[in-house]
Amino acid sequence: MIDACCVRSAHRDDLPMLLSWRNHPEVRSFMFSRHEIGLDEHAAWFATASRDITRRLLVIEDQDLPLGYVQFANIASGGIAEWGFYTRPGAPRGSGRRLGSAALDHAFTVLGLHKVCGQAIASNAASIALHQKLHFVQEGVLREHQQIEGTYHSLVCFGLLKHEWCGG
Ligand SMILES: CC(C)(COP(=O)(O)OP(=O)(O)OC[C@H]1O[C@@H](n2cnc3c(N)ncnc32)[C@H](O)[C@@H]1OP(=O)(O)O)[C@@H](O)C(=O)NCCC(=O)NCCS
Repeated sequence: MIDACCVRSAHRDDLPMLLSWRNHPEVRSFMFSRHEIGLDEHAAWFATASRDITRRLLVIEDQDLPLGYVQFANIASGGIAEWGFYTRPGAPRGSGRRLGSAALDHAFTVLGLHKVCGQAIASNAASIALHQKLHFVQEGVLREHQQIEGTYHSLVCFGLLKHEWCGG
């Protein structure tokens, strides 16, 4: 049984915390863009993304202690969206699962989504394991689909339908 976490919208006061997580090597090294993000770039991203009605930017907390960040993007009219996430660097083992479960509960109940899609770089064993633990179905592999710093990476594509979600 996984204890309930709090899911809330990210706000401006979270920006320094989110920037420090996003720039941490444990997170940055698994992102598509890996440069160190500056405060101005980060603030500009938030100003645009937080007003985008096809996105939700969320902070997941466990008894006021932040567990990590989740976003749902490209939310289409049929309720299909892509997610991305990272845990707070140094968060204890099991944090990813708790973060993912809380975010997916939110996606299928509060946001009313029909399907959540995820893409993991093929070398990201932790993300692939987490998608599998959360009952995502692997829907394919996009071979050498993303070029990052001069190297092509394959992407593993996952999908989870609302009726397949059983609470993590
Ligand atoms: C991916 C991420 C959220 C996983 O968080 P986490 O706290 O390690 O996840 P959990 O501890 O809940 O682990 C979930 C499962 O994955 C497994 N796992 C974790 N790290 C693993 C690794 N490096 N290799 C293989 N399996 C791994 C765990 O063993 C666990 O399975 P279990 O319950 O059978 O033990 C976290 O590592 C992260 O934020 N990474 C950087 C950002 C990122 O990659 N985001 C995803 C982009 S698609």
